[in-house]
Amino acid sequence: MVLEKQRPMNINRLELPALPDVSKDFIKGYVRLSHLYRGAMMEVSTKLDILDDEFSVTYDHNPIHHMECRLKSAESTVNKLKRKGFEVSTQNIMEHIQDVAGVRVICNYTDDIYRLSHVLEKHKDFTLIRKTDYIENPKPNGYRSLHLVVEVPVTISEVILRLPVEIQLRTIAMDMWASLEHELRYKSGKEVSSQSVDELRECAERLSAIDSKMQEICRRIRACD
Ligand code: GTP
Ligand code: MG
Repeated sequence: MVLEKQRPMNINRLELPALPDVSKDFIKGYVRLSHLYRGAMMEVSTKLDILDDEFSVTYDHNPIHHMECRLKSAESTVNKLKRKGFEVSTQNIMEHIQDVAGVRVICNYTDDIYRLSHVLEKHKDFTLIRKTDYIENPKPNGYRSLHLVVEVPVTISEVILRLPVEIQLRTIAMDMWASLEHELRYKSGKEVSSQSVDELRECAERLSAIDSKMQEICRRIRACD
């Protein structure tokens, strides 16, 4: 199951009140570019869907619980360019921003994450640009996930463009923690106390222990099948 978070943008219905200083031409260029990134994102999610089916047929097991796809909004893309000190242009987006297209893959078990990542890394159509393993090396706050950035070919007319897609692979437990932590950190608008930071890290560790236990049970049951 793929959940897509936004509808495609339309050039004739553009309203970006949060970006009064960017030109109409840039916005039009961004809308065209976002269609290409959407293509790259769909390319990745379709490959993953096919892989999920293949595992299901071959091993009677679905590694993917569900997927979420999102395109970064024009506002956050422009703000990220500015934060990094680049001029606002579609060229600079293509050269310096790697997470315009994002696919979040929620897996059932940790083994599934590494299985899928192995296939994606070796896939002949994709080029691995970056891999960050926050499962092996969690962030100090407890965040866990495996992040890949892969370059994906997108054909327009007779030209093949290669665009990056950020893929986040995580278990249901890792996703639960990340969603709630994000909610608490960004949405509350308040500074999180050091006690809450410590407790959140402890929650992440407990969830990780549960993931390991579930994985162990799963391996044992499968070995007996
Ligand atoms: P930015 O994308 O500019 O933030 O830098 P980066 O590319 O080094 O990012 P990183 O790989 O650390 O994280 C990219 C994405 O992972 C974020 O946009 C979030 O979706 C997710 N993420 C990373 N760290 C955290 C975290 O501590 N908590 C939560 N909830 N999500 C995180
Ligand atoms: Mg990012």
